[in-house]
Amino acid sequence: QQTDKELLYKIHEVANDFFQNQLFESEEGKAVGYSYFKERELRDEIIRKFQLGYSPEQRNAFTEYALNKGYSKEILEKSGLSVFPESVPNGVDRFRERVIFPIHSFSGRVLGFGARILKSNVKTAKYLNSPETEIYHKSNVLYGLNQSKQAISKNNLCLLVEGYMDVIALHQAGIENVVSSSGTALTVEQIKLIKRLTENVTILFDGDAAGIKASFRSIDMLLSESMNIRILLFPDGDDPDSFSRKHPQEFVENFIKNEAKDFIDFKAEILLKEAGEDPIKKAEAIRDIVKSVAFVRNALKQEVYLKEISNRFGLSEQSLFNELNVQKQIKN
Ligand code: CTP
Ligand code: MN
Ligand code: MN
Ligand code: MN
Ligand code: MN
Repeated sequence: QQTDKELLYKIHEVANDFFQNQLFESEEGKAVGYSYFKERELRDEIIRKFQLGYSPEQRNAFTEYALNKGYSKEILEKSGLSVFPESVPNGVDRFRERVIFPIHSFSGRVLGFGARILKSNVKTAKYLNSPETEIYHKSNVLYGLNQSKQAISKNNLCLLVEGYMDVIALHQAGIENVVSSSGTALTVEQIKLIKRLTENVTILFDGDAAGIKASFRSIDMLLSESMNIRILLFPDGDDPDSFSRKHPQEFVENFIKNEAKDFIDFKAEILLKEAGEDPIKKAEAIRDIVKSVAFVRNALKQEVYLKEISNRFGLSEQSLFNELNVQKQIKN
């Protein structure tokens, strides 16, 4: 007697094989899915490494395949891969006419899928993901961790990016210590997964407003989990995928190494640019930076950071310390 969980793992394995087969073997998959990945300059070895796939246009292609293999409608619905509306007893696939990114656990089991539309002008969401199921809790999973864990340990550093393609493109560029929270806000559980391998994180988010906002939030989360962080935003709206395809590997590596800033410099640069010469806005920028220091758990580290802020802005340590205490009270 198999439990639901075991069956859910099994059906995700079956689906993963199905989608990969579609990509490499079916006429539609080759013409649409495979050529999409080629347009994005992915090599075959990297398509295989990340087990990328394709879900056909036919609305119940996978559902029909799984039913024929003996899986029940009930377990298919629980997996999030199919729905069975009353009017469509044969069922409907969740993912149709999309390229597929399987999401693996730390140990390499398939837990769910992300799926991208092929055209960008369509009005539907660019990415569609598996729903929460008994085996997939998106807040506990980092995309790419299974493929990147050894390199993260070896480098004693984890690069954190926004998207699926960012992880894959960096791997293709030979930079393999990288994971993605896949567009969701970084969680404590995700940070704990990284912490098993390293305490050092470099945030590499998209160089747009959403990327800045997400990086500010992630900074505070990571600091409160005692991680050492550096941050880099890519120029001109690039993300790690687009950037790494414009430049040779060594340039990308050096760029990440040399341009990543500590959180004080990073926040100072962005907030002070916004503030201009306005003293009130300047003061608010400094408060915002001290607010992040309030998330640091170690008192000694806090003091070191305050000293740095003090030097940088020519403010007394005492007034920064007072502000820190105010921020701590607000927090608690
Ligand atoms: N995302 C999502 N659903 C969306 C948009 C984004 O789940 N509708 C997640 C995906 O994991 C995506 C990540 O957020 O990879 C980052 O979003 P974005 O930067 O918009 O996409 P890219 O990864 O750059 O996608 P692509 O390069 O394929 O256009
Ligand atoms: Mn669970
Ligand atoms: Mn983005
Ligand atoms: Mn992006
Ligand atoms: Mn992108």
